[in-house]
Amino acid sequence: MCGIVGYIGKREAYPIIIKGLKRLEYRGYDSAGVALLNGGLKVFKKKGKVSELEGSVSADATKSNLGIGHTRWATHGEPNDINAHPHVSQNGKLAIIHNGIIENYQSLKTELEQKGHKFKSQTDSEVVIHLVEEILLNNSCSLEEAVRLALNEIIGAYAICVISEDDKSQLIAARKGSPLVIGIGDGEFFVASDATPIIEYTNNVVYLDDYEIAIIRDGELIVKSIEDVIKTPFIHKLEMELESIEKGGFPHFMLKEIYEQPKSIRDCLRGRLIATDSHLNLNGMLQFMNKFTNAERLIFVACGTSWHAGLVAEYLFEDIARVNVEVEYASEFRYRNPVIRENDIVVAISQSGETADTLAAIEMAKSKGATIFGVCNVVGSSISRASHAGAYIHAGPEIGVASTKAFTGQVTVLTMMALILGLKKGTLTENRFRELIFALDQIPNKIQKILDDTSSVKKIAETFQFAKNFLYLGRGYNFPVALEGALKLKEISYIHAEGYPAAEMKHGPIALIDEDMPVVFIAPKDSTYEKIISNIQEVKARKGKVIAIVTEGEKDIFNMSDYVVEIPATEECLQPLLSSIPLQLLSYYVAINRGCNVDQPRNLAKSVTVE
Ligand code: G6P
Repeated sequence: MCGIVGYIGKREAYPIIIKGLKRLEYRGYDSAGVALLNGGLKVFKKKGKVSELEGSVSADATKSNLGIGHTRWATHGEPNDINAHPHVSQNGKLAIIHNGIIENYQSLKTELEQKGHKFKSQTDSEVVIHLVEEILLNNSCSLEEAVRLALNEIIGAYAICVISEDDKSQLIAARKGSPLVIGIGDGEFFVASDATPIIEYTNNVVYLDDYEIAIIRDGELIVKSIEDVIKTPFIHKLEMELESIEKGGFPHFMLKEIYEQPKSIRDCLRGRLIATDSHLNLNGMLQFMNKFTNAERLIFVACGTSWHAGLVAEYLFEDIARVNVEVEYASEFRYRNPVIRENDIVVAISQSGETADTLAAIEMAKSKGATIFGVCNVVGSSISRASHAGAYIHAGPEIGVASTKAFTGQVTVLTMMALILGLKKGTLTENRFRELIFALDQIPNKIQKILDDTSSVKKIAETFQFAKNFLYLGRGYNFPVALEGALKLKEISYIHAEGYPAAEMKHGPIALIDEDMPVVFIAPKDSTYEKIISNIQEVKARKGKVIAIVTEGEKDIFNMSDYVVEIPATEECLQPLLSSIPLQLLSYYVAINRGCNVDQPRNLAKSVTVE
């Protein structure tokens, strides 16, 4: 959460920072600010989106070659102008931007207050710059050294940038627990929470590791550890295309990302699945194949939508590879003192690869001897680097806060993993393996077919746009899809929605059903078909409005439902890849009809780097 950007070089920093902040707004958008060095230090901060900040920056201040900017997702202190970053030191000469949480800020603040420091904001971040200032006052040291010493006193997570009025050719950045990427241009440097603000200027980046400090001074980058040991930074080549982070003619990123799914799944399968040769391979699994075949248990840890992908994995791995599976909310798992054995594999699922709880969960499992396998989208992200092995989903940047193509990408990778393991363990025959990989190969075309005609979804969205509640019901592989459908609707339309296993409805939610309650059944033709028909009847008997996602050509549910959306037939274990698509579209169109900001829903952030 929170996006940070910094620039030092020959160009004007301001436009680069503003553009970068707009790209990072998915990380938080309740307030924004910039600090620029032009003559003295000039700081501008504003509650609201980056566009609102733009209007408040004076033209003369923008003529600066060094600056830092921040877009905030509030943790400590409400969103207002004062709590917005950058924060400045008491003497007004130093400025900081921070992403993360300083856990011991209260004790540091008390100590600093006793020494005469006056704080303006309620944030935890402000304490860091006062601490740096205090160290500078008491030790005749460089800014770099003061930052290093301050970081040694801090407990918590941070990605920071610090600049000083006294040194206009220096920018200091550091990280622990929150992401930070440094772009290396020709005599210029870019610092950002991810690569999207950097990509149009340079492909050469350094991902800073935890406990590292970058000192960018006089056109040079020096990376040091927090213990003051010089490190040799590894320069990665970014492969991201600029077009992939733009809307490409769609009104919203979310819609673009929904429509990208045929391509993103093809990209995910590319080079890994060749149906005609019965070939399926994930390089990341190869080297750990013995671990996988001998694993007594797979533990999937994730948050949000990624957790729903983990639930799909539970069905896949138990069904296809006959292995015990547990699916855990990372935030619960990490604090529960779980029993972890050396032959457990912990699979971390994360779009961003930066979710603080997921990262902490795998660090904990690693320390107990488990093998960690990462299923991430963002290449080079913290979780992918902290894992022993992994497989990227290759969905391309996902910018809409509500996750869509990352979910289907995660499910695609998890399906491939289950199929590979099933074949290897002999729980899947070669014939069945071949049938399933042919079916998987067909999924992008079938998604395209759903996307080619969205008229029924749009009609349902129009009919129910004023509903106060929604219930989503599914069985088997479609139970996690019900959860995901409900989450999508809640996130972007602010309508209360619950996902439930269809049979479990009788144990509570049935009490909510009346003639105003839309109930979405995810009911393609599969082994649970007869059972779900009974559940539909139970809803109809109580006058609920039935919206059903059915298999093309199916008649029984079609005839008994008030509204239907047809999807192509596929193998039961692949249905989530198709049945989730109309639910993504439904939430999108309901939200649009209600005038909601689908790409930046209130209170949410795409990348949750605080616990
Ligand atoms: C946030 C996002 C969700 C996402 C979840 C987990 O809540 O808004 O879309 O599913 O974090 O994020 P991750 O990057 O770990 O998949």
